[in-house]
Amino acid sequence: MRQKIIVDVDTGIDDSLALLYLLASPEAEIVGIASTAGNVSAEQVAANNLAWLDVCRAPAIEVALGAAEPVAIPLRTTEDTHGPHGVGYADLPKSARPLSDRSAVQLWIDSARAHPGELVGLCTGPLTNLALALRLEPGLPRLLRRLVIMGGAFNHPGNTTPTNEWNVHVDPEAAKEVFDAFGAAPRRPIVCALDITETIEMFPEHLAALAERAGSLPPELVSATDPAGTRSAAANPIIRHFSDAVRFYFEFHQHYDQGYLAHMHDPFAAAVALDPALAVLRPATVDVELTGTLTRATTVADWSGMWGREPNADIVIGTDPALFFDRLITRVGDFARALYPAEEVR
Ligand code: BDR
Ligand code: CA
Repeated sequence: MRQKIIVDVDTGIDDSLALLYLLASPEAEIVGIASTAGNVSAEQVAANNLAWLDVCRAPAIEVALGAAEPVAIPLRTTEDTHGPHGVGYADLPKSARPLSDRSAVQLWIDSARAHPGELVGLCTGPLTNLALALRLEPGLPRLLRRLVIMGGAFNHPGNTTPTNEWNVHVDPEAAKEVFDAFGAAPRRPIVCALDITETIEMFPEHLAALAERAGSLPPELVSATDPAGTRSAAANPIIRHFSDAVRFYFEFHQHYDQGYLAHMHDPFAAAVALDPALAVLRPATVDVELTGTLTRATTVADWSGMWGREPNADIVIGTDPALFFDRLITRVGDFARALYPAEEVR
């Protein structure tokens, strides 16, 4: 039986690869995609999700629009990280697929009620829609099989402020509501924070290997010495669009002195959602600072019960990045090759 999964994304360059990974994974059945405001507006996120479904020749998968703003503060987006439309330099064809009639919040609630105990939730953006869904259906933690979150930074610097990770920074009140509510879940949520996701470094060599596995020509040789914004000539549209997206992310990380690489936060969370055995977990009690003058939106983990509260999260503290990239390249490469055989794209 395939694993039913609801995906809540703010697509997003790395969210894009998370979607590709799930679409390429035969054991995954995506029951719906919630489009959350974060990297770019919710409307742009939804347009990107629909466009990727087209590029991947996917069957009809519901894409729902999320709230326009975080639950308590104005929206902040980050086009400097993910490009003007959230997908780097990629110019995705506009999709004619319709958006769902129901909201992302309703998608969460209806899907969890329709498949009690079966559905895995994967959040790779701010937790706005999940928090709003919890207000209407407080039973969600018990209805879901498991929740996997990309968010937070614990024993690690932030990527937005010295202590803030982006997804929590955008909507800290929502993150707190989710962590508080999931204290009551039969299974603790798995949290992929920056501590681990910044060890998931994609290099141009990974991209070249992905294109080769897909049988895409010419070889995809992206280099730090290329002029900024160079566009891919890959014959395979999945490789071409993803390469154009990830080049922007390489340039962004290089600009911030992290090297010509890209942290693949969200695809790692997607892989863990399908196979938690990829992750070494450690329970902790997680809370979100909402009032600090310097530290608002910081995630704090109590690893040793000092607060006297039960653990409400399993934080990923270890993984094998090479194993993850092997799996990613095999899956997405084979998927891209099967969808666009060489004779079709020559
Ligand atoms: C997270 O922030 C976003 O920009 C990425 O898509 C990822 O989900 C990393 O902090
Ligand atoms: Ca994201």
